[in-house]
Amino acid sequence: MDAEIDSILISRERIAARVAEMGGQIASAYGDRDPCLTLVAILSGAVIFLADLIRHIPQEMKLALIAVSSYPGTSVASRGPKIVRDIEEDLAGRHVLVVDDILDTGNTLRLVQEAIREHGPTSLRTAVLLRKRDKAPPEVTVDFVGFDIEDVFVVGYGLDYDNLYRNYPHIATLRVAAPAIASRRS
Ligand code: PRP
Repeated sequence: MDAEIDSILISRERIAARVAEMGGQIASAYGDRDPCLTLVAILSGAVIFLADLIRHIPQEMKLALIAVSSYPGTSVASRGPKIVRDIEEDLAGRHVLVVDDILDTGNTLRLVQEAIREHGPTSLRTAVLLRKRDKAPPEVTVDFVGFDIEDVFVVGYGLDYDNLYRNYPHIATLRVAAPAIASRRS
């Protein structure tokens, strides 16, 4: 796998430090009272971030999962997000925090935020590890951001290409399939 990595953009050490900080910020935002907190993680990319983040948030919480796919297989352009596994938790009256790995075009988060609003949550906030700041649409609001990055295709720490590299511990760019990857999500 290492041979296919072009360069490390954000090391595992920087990720760990920032995720811990984000956990502290989120914990402070919800305060000490029972927050009736439910985290909604967007599968599959958010799984590693979710696992690390929640251990820095001491409040009682429930977990819910939603699966959305925009870039199936080796797709190099978004096919439009589709919910492929819906939320099974009751979110009415809950403080909901959506957790995703990356905000790119914003299509995924827009769809998920709209779907969650229909459940009638008490509040809705969003945390992403990565944001492509110049690309993310302003109407898709995020409350907690780990890192702003340039518009480059990245893998690792949950992010994939063709469902590979999710277990690479750093956020990195890829050497392989460069022509296809360069045009993906552009
Ligand atoms: C990726 C990523 C985000 C989404 C962001 O998911 O995990 O959820 O794309 O892109 P957007 O802002 O342009 O919508 P993908 O559809 O590749 O599925 P995955 O999570 O299973 O990798």
